[in-house]
Amino acid sequence: MKKKRVLVVLGGASREREVSLESGKSCILALKKIGYSVLKFDPKFLSLDKIKKNNPDVIFNALHGKGGEDGKVQSFFEYFRIPYTHSGVLSSMIAMNKHFSKQLFIKNKVRTPNYFFLNRKDYPNINLHQKIRKNKLAFPIVVKPNDEGSSIGVKICKNFSLLRKEFKKAKKNYSNLIFETYIPGQEIQVAVMGGKSIGAIELRPKRKFYDYKAKYKKSAKTLHIMPAPISKKKYKEVLRISEKANKILGCKGITRCDFRFYKDKFFLLEVNTQPGMTSLSLVPEIAKYSNISFVQLVKWMVNDSGINR
Ligand SMILES: Nc1ncnc2c1ncn2[C@@H]1O[C@H](COP(=O)(O)OP(=O)(O)O)[C@@H](O)[C@H]1O
Ligand SMILES: [Mg+2]
Repeated sequence: MKKKRVLVVLGGASREREVSLESGKSCILALKKIGYSVLKFDPKFLSLDKIKKNNPDVIFNALHGKGGEDGKVQSFFEYFRIPYTHSGVLSSMIAMNKHFSKQLFIKNKVRTPNYFFLNRKDYPNINLHQKIRKNKLAFPIVVKPNDEGSSIGVKICKNFSLLRKEFKKAKKNYSNLIFETYIPGQEIQVAVMGGKSIGAIELRPKRKFYDYKAKYKKSAKTLHIMPAPISKKKYKEVLRISEKANKILGCKGITRCDFRFYKDKFFLLEVNTQPGMTSLSLVPEIAKYSNISFVQLVKWMVNDSGINR
């Protein structure tokens, strides 16, 4: 029988390029172990239309961040009509857009921190005091880009003067911003596989918060507690909320839902449609706890790939 040709798309030009190269490397190893014929494709150096020439059976999307996680690359895959892993065009686009996804969470009664959204055109005349009051925000307030990942650009502001300072910086770098009430408590993340939650983990960063370094630098020593140390009832609840959020956004393949847990309540921050896939990432760690090895997870993702997602 002819070996299945799997093309791994990795790297790219987003700010999460390095993480994607790591995810890609781990997945390539697993794909080879399974016995697929593996091809590599880095959109930083090759134009995406070259993918068609490789004529793969399946595209394994190992990209993270802009371009790779926001529906853009997915629309190429749809256009080529080549089956691909993870979520489809619209789900990826909405999940990457914190404002849009939070609107859908609110409409569907999934709790998310109070927030407001600003576009570049709003920057010059905005009255922040009024916005904070109207949208019932309380300090500390988190300022973050509407469509980045890996905690890039996330700033926690204790008071109004710090908020004004961070806003001044952020508006130079980002066209769309989210202002959100900071939720203290625990950082809980849930892995979802084919619409079913497979487990919840707690992250305890040693740094001020779960920022880029806390996520990726081993020396930052973030504690991973699997399963998340919360009551059975609450554990079940967060798994259920994650499944609901995936359904609302129409996600496919694997995803990871990021929560804060405070005073017995879960606050959904976001759903990640292209979660980290290094052998040390959270979804593989949660899967392992459910007796799903990294290789099994990757194999499942290939079998789950498709178009018209
Ligand atoms: N409203 C908030 N309350 C508490 N912590 C937050 C809040 N928003 C962001 N954070 C912290 O910043 C991290 C990254 O924020 P998140 O919204 O998940 O964006 P990203 O797409 O960058 O992962 C979170 O995992 C959390 O530690
Ligand atoms: Mg996150």
